[in-house]
Amino acid sequence: MRADLEVAGPHGPIPVRVYEPAGQAEAVLVWAHGGGFRHGDLDMAEADMVSAELSRRANAIVFSVGYRLAVDGVRYPVPIDDVHTVWTWVTARDDLPNRRALGGASAGAALAIATALRTTPVQDAEVPAPRAAGDRPDLLLLAYPFAHFPTPMLGHGRTLDGVEDMVRNYVGRISDLPPDALPGAARLDGLPPAHILLSEFDDLRPSGELLERQLREVGVPAESFVAPGTTHGHLNRPHDVPDSVDASLGFFAAALRAPREAPRWLRREGEPRIEFGADYNPEQWPRAVWDDDVRAMREAGVTIVSLGIFSWARLEPAERRYDFGWLDEVIDLLHTNGILVDLATPTASPPPWLTTKHPEILPVDRDGRTVWPGARQHWRPTSPVFREHALRLVRVLAKRYADHPALAAWHVNNELGCHNVHDYSDDAARAFRIWLRERYTDLDGLNAAWGTDFWSQRYGEWEQILPPRHANGPVNPTQQLDFKRFSSDALKDHYLAERRILREITPDVPVTTNFMVAGPINEMNYPDWAAEVDFVANDHYTRPGPQSRDELSFSANLCGNLIPGRPWFLMEHSTSAVNWQPVNVPKLPGELARDSLTHVAHGADGVCFFQWRQSRAGAEKFHSAMLPHAGKSSAIFEAVTDLGARLRSLSAITGFSRTPSAVAVVIDYESWWAAEQDAHPTDRLRYRDEALDWYTALLDHGIRADVVPVAADLTGYRLVVAPILHLVPAALKQRLEDYVAGGGHLVTTYFSGIVDEFDHAWLGGYPGALRDLLGIRVEEFAPLLDGESAPLSNGAIGTLWSERVEVTDPATKVLAAYTGGGAAVTRREVGAGSAAYISTRLRPQGLLLILDDLLIPAGVTSELPPDLRGRVELAVRGPARFLINRTTDPVDLSAVAGAPETLPARGVVVLISPDTRG
Ligand code: GAL
Repeated sequence: MRADLEVAGPHGPIPVRVYEPAGQAEAVLVWAHGGGFRHGDLDMAEADMVSAELSRRANAIVFSVGYRLAVDGVRYPVPIDDVHTVWTWVTARDDLPNRRALGGASAGAALAIATALRTTPVQDAEVPAPRAAGDRPDLLLLAYPFAHFPTPMLGHGRTLDGVEDMVRNYVGRISDLPPDALPGAARLDGLPPAHILLSEFDDLRPSGELLERQLREVGVPAESFVAPGTTHGHLNRPHDVPDSVDASLGFFAAALRAPREAPRWLRREGEPRIEFGADYNPEQWPRAVWDDDVRAMREAGVTIVSLGIFSWARLEPAERRYDFGWLDEVIDLLHTNGILVDLATPTASPPPWLTTKHPEILPVDRDGRTVWPGARQHWRPTSPVFREHALRLVRVLAKRYADHPALAAWHVNNELGCHNVHDYSDDAARAFRIWLRERYTDLDGLNAAWGTDFWSQRYGEWEQILPPRHANGPVNPTQQLDFKRFSSDALKDHYLAERRILREITPDVPVTTNFMVAGPINEMNYPDWAAEVDFVANDHYTRPGPQSRDELSFSANLCGNLIPGRPWFLMEHSTSAVNWQPVNVPKLPGELARDSLTHVAHGADGVCFFQWRQSRAGAEKFHSAMLPHAGKSSAIFEAVTDLGARLRSLSAITGFSRTPSAVAVVIDYESWWAAEQDAHPTDRLRYRDEALDWYTALLDHGIRADVVPVAADLTGYRLVVAPILHLVPAALKQRLEDYVAGGGHLVTTYFSGIVDEFDHAWLGGYPGALRDLLGIRVEEFAPLLDGESAPLSNGAIGTLWSERVEVTDPATKVLAAYTGGGAAVTRREVGAGSAAYISTRLRPQGLLLILDDLLIPAGVTSELPPDLRGRVELAVRGPARFLINRTTDPVDLSAVAGAPETLPARGVVVLISPDTRG
């Protein structure tokens, strides 16, 4: 619905066109079209079409302002006065929704910013006062803003003369401009969050990009979207690049819409249950097989499948030619059979037509070699061309299935960062520089952070900076560390770009992506990513070895703490052997269920496998599945069906998260990255092995520990173990000191506290940032050669590392010494708390010998009967206690009330207490 009215202003009446949505209005937008301050009216597409569409898509009342143009002697600040007048008139009304935005296109964007500036108090002015009247907007929507003069890096097509003419016409001169005329020159602090739409081939694009950087620099949240294939003013030409105009309106509408709490679990109706299923790849099979599939799925108790993960080549067999018929049929078939769909955006593996047409999307390794198609994940996270094609398909897919009742969740891409996280291409170099500019603002900051006076690496231009490509020796360590941070962020950025579209089209469907919290995989900083998924989903595969089971528990445990208090989803694991290890051993009887239930014990409310039906062809034909080559008549299918039944019996525990323990093992991805860089005292150090050893030793002792990200709230823990906490910024140093001063007991190890966030050594002796807290000082590291060991006075044997530890504080006691002399394990009492240090690698056997010295003063005891300690892992989840057999023998449970007599080898018993059922 639209209506024309006039608002009285200081220069006379101002025409306003009002657009009302059909349903309940949730937001208000005051909008100013563009036209170089001299052209444009309320009928142009940029005013009329944009207002109508944003009103419809965001349930917003849009006020499109017919401000006075700079013609016939009208000049700055008259147009701003007009927009500002309408803004104050709108915001004074109390019959309108509370969420209020200001926006505009091109010159209109400049007017919107200038108006917002008038409502924004100057932060540190001597007398705090608003710059002028009117409520501060909640957000700004800025389409290809013309925000600067002189205009940065003006491109071809628009001559300097043209821009000068625009400015001279508007302000009357081109020098000594008022800061809010082209408001990039104004003080921007205090402005509301800005959503900046850029036209890809706009010669004014640098102005929008500079504005985004300026806003971020002063702490104003700003995000941008580049509309592919467009030129300046593209909203005014909706028929030229319809997809991009649609996406641009979607970008604004999603920002404008009143925020809703994102759904935190599947979109489905019915009683709570633990979901059960697999990746399902029906495109690999003839149609007739699908009916057998769904029949067998029902038999096994499957409730959900992840669909379409690698189906790009089938869904878009040629550019913009779509074939959704087969997927429609599969989804309908699943729905008819009561099976939910976790629908993947099929962007993990670009199809041959795309890589043939655009080989520039292929990643490049650090030696400069192209990563060719043939497998999967052959795309650069930073390629604008890949992004454009991927997002177009995501949009088409999301629109097609938005309302399908089977659609329960979005599965973005697949294992983002599997194979393509570290890309060294020119696209990556460009994006890396932008990322660095945001981090350091100027080159002096970067040069200082990277210590570039070492080896004559000082940078004079941003363009000189490269990813850490193959070089003649160790590359600058801070450059390497920043590249790791950047690479994790670049993939997250791709995830966010897909999510933005999915949220825009299906705000009620949760969005997630499958993490890889497993074994040595550390390229994505998942504690940081976790804030962006509606629920955590993880893929976990075991690797053979004595700590394989504990490693599974450790990873599951961390998944349960990435979003504290929320259940998570095991998106993939294997029913038996994988196909990608040097030797792929099958699981032993009982392991399939034990592994699954261990994940459930640590908070998983969904248990899925890769994959439903074992492939006949392709690189994974020897990877196990729920339905193996042998068919339904197989031990695997039987175990799968049993597991389905077992999970159904556990529905009472859904929604509960893990019950916290008294002990935490801290994981810090930045320390993990930094501690394992090259040119270090030893290249043998493995961060996660040390952390896992602590976890194993605690389980051996009968203690359940929480595995938590370093940013977690540690104050509730009696004992915090932070192994190899190598990178300690000043704020973390303070947090740990406060934790100990508050009565907490901290334990840390060799190579901790050594560097700050720039990877610069803390000076004065090791362990640097933690030296005073620990009451010790170390002058030199003494890593051990392979086969060398350092025996301790308590019988433990140190390997890998040793140190000459000097005790510097009388409150520091030596708990164990090296037999060759010198303190090896120390503990400093600090009031009711303490800080302990282990200077060598003790492995679980050695750690067991010192654990009592750490646990007893912290008041931590095992919750298990003595006979079960070490043999059984206890996990507590709401009303349930899980007893998991860690051995290959049966365990007598007669000491446990309510439990069966025996816990079989590789067995799991779940005891649900009726009293605590929530
Ligand atoms: C995962 C991947 C699956 C499958 C599986 C095999 O990394 O997401 O598509 O390849 O490994 O173990």
